[in-house]
Amino acid sequence: MLKRYLLKIVVSIFCVWCLGCGQGSQEAKKNKLVIAIDATFVPMSFLNDEGALDGFEVDLIKEVVKNAGFDYELVNVEWGGLFGGLITKKFDLVISSITILEERKNRMAFSIPYLQSGVAVLVRKDIQNVDSLEKLAEINAIVGAQINTTSYYFLQKYEGIKIKTYEKFGHAVIDMANKGNDGVVGDSVQVNYYFNKNEELIQNARFLGSRMTSELYGIVLNKENVELKQKIDASLMDLLENGMVQKLHKKWSLGDFSVVPSPE
Ligand code: ARG
Repeated sequence: MLKRYLLKIVVSIFCVWCLGCGQGSQEAKKNKLVIAIDATFVPMSFLNDEGALDGFEVDLIKEVVKNAGFDYELVNVEWGGLFGGLITKKFDLVISSITILEERKNRMAFSIPYLQSGVAVLVRKDIQNVDSLEKLAEINAIVGAQINTTSYYFLQKYEGIKIKTYEKFGHAVIDMANKGNDGVVGDSVQVNYYFNKNEELIQNARFLGSRMTSELYGIVLNKENVELKQKIDASLMDLLENGMVQKLHKKWSLGDFSVVPSPE
């Protein structure tokens, strides 16, 4: 009788212990966020010489999630795979210079904005007498942009312009150097970076305009993850208030081409 009683106690202690273990590991899993980043967008997010993810947004997202109390794992995902992976819950967060758009808000949730930016236009120097996109439209110019970006949507407004799309912005620039297009449109921070680092580009292209639109970048989340959005927003607000976002803006020399929004 006593033996049976003791056995029952031992078994129940064991069960409670097991339950505890299960919950513990689930908790640990929940606390680790999978963050997807497209590492082709210098200086925002890219692979450095050691092959590690680096850039303004890599630094920023690490600060945001740490400050919110999460562990994280960064994964490098190409532009075309970011939204689908988020919606199917392969990742918890995406940061990749993603503009907050009403149409995107129907499918995904956005954090409060961390940067204000816009699009910039570069034109080949040998395309003469062109000082506006209207003029480019008049001569039926071929203009390159990364597919499904705000640059691409922006170009669609100009009837007459032939849009040439690319999976990566860098490919549009290479194609321009090879006269495969007459100009390119991209996010101003990135266009300026390419322009200033690339001798050939400086010699053969000129700016038609910088920050021709006003866009706000946000961290993207799954719509169902309401609690996570609250935590990420609160953490980001802290970093906007305590000057951390501004500090990173300076570290990565983002200059006048993007502005850190004032916390509201
Ligand atoms: N800001 C633009 C948009 O949201 C372009 C973003 C492209 N980002 C990238 N990592 N390729 O449409």
